[in-house]
Amino acid sequence: MEFKIGVLAGDGIGPEIVEQAIKVMDAVATKFGHQFNYTKALVGAIAIDETGNPYPDETHQVCLDSDAVLFGAIGDPKYDNNPAAKVRPEQGLLGMRQKLGLYANIRPVATFPSLIDKSPLKRDIVQDVDLVVIRELTGGIYFGARGRSEDLTSAFDTCVYTVEEVERILKLAYSYAGKRSKRVTVVDKANVLSSSRLWREVAQRVEKEYTDIETDYMLVDNAAMQLIQWPKKFDVMVTENMFGDILSDEASVITGSMGLLPSASVGRETSVFEPIHGSYPQAAGKDIANPLATVLSAAMLLESLDLLEEAQAVRDVVNKSLNEGVVTEDISGEGKAYKTSEVGAWLAENI
Ligand code: IPM
Ligand code: MG
Repeated sequence: MEFKIGVLAGDGIGPEIVEQAIKVMDAVATKFGHQFNYTKALVGAIAIDETGNPYPDETHQVCLDSDAVLFGAIGDPKYDNNPAAKVRPEQGLLGMRQKLGLYANIRPVATFPSLIDKSPLKRDIVQDVDLVVIRELTGGIYFGARGRSEDLTSAFDTCVYTVEEVERILKLAYSYAGKRSKRVTVVDKANVLSSSRLWREVAQRVEKEYTDIETDYMLVDNAAMQLIQWPKKFDVMVTENMFGDILSDEASVITGSMGLLPSASVGRETSVFEPIHGSYPQAAGKDIANPLATVLSAAMLLESLDLLEEAQAVRDVVNKSLNEGVVTEDISGEGKAYKTSEVGAWLAENI
């Protein structure tokens, strides 16, 4: 079959990791007789440099015209260190999520047997962890009204949720749980925040529609603690935008490296597949970044196109590279540290 794939490599290590995922996808295409037609487009700091806009209309059109989008990373220290910058790379990512209606971010967290001892957590805590963080992605404090007082002595951000937004993401979480171990944990801060009390109210109603699924309610501070102490007790965790952002980074510690966690952002239009780590500017251009999170994001992309066997082949080859130690320096330990491009080439050869 033939597919149109939008490729938004972005900033920092984005281009090098995306390049490896494309090598792997091309190997999949050859092996299974498909054709992937890639269209590259600008996003993030590089898009600001070249067009003044972190998510140009042209890029949006490429996304709309694609069957799926592979995304690298965005962000550049020159903006992080300049809080006064009016246009920021992150606005490109947030703008893309909003314009494409990507309301749900799916972040699966599972341990790889060969990496258990790479996790800073003890083996018996992380062994067999298999959970998914479902993060609401187009609402809450990242999209609410924000500003600065005229005299610049104060600033504010607003967290707004509508019943419809909460219901939509909860239903998606329940449908995931139905295919997994039928447990949902709704994470909020209902003891303090009004928006969280709305979440809980809606969840208590939605819960009744899914009688075969067990629902647990947890305050976010407690969830942050339990996620590290007893990660095995979680299956599907669903939460609002900012809590999901934070908890999914925390969850990545369980696997041993942030360089291993893929994600899918799904919603109204084309879905976007991206590693959860950022642009890691210190490593950009050095050929040392771990490409596996992006390669695993490509596996999620293939799955979204109903190429299930192909997605499994990608996961299998990633497992093989982990078992055989063909990995980058973040997880190579005492063993040889392979370059980003070497890992990509090895994966493609072994598909
Ligand atoms: C993520 C990232 C982004 C987010 C940043 C880069 C805006 O941290 O995808 O988790 O906060 O959503
Ligand atoms: Mg984040």
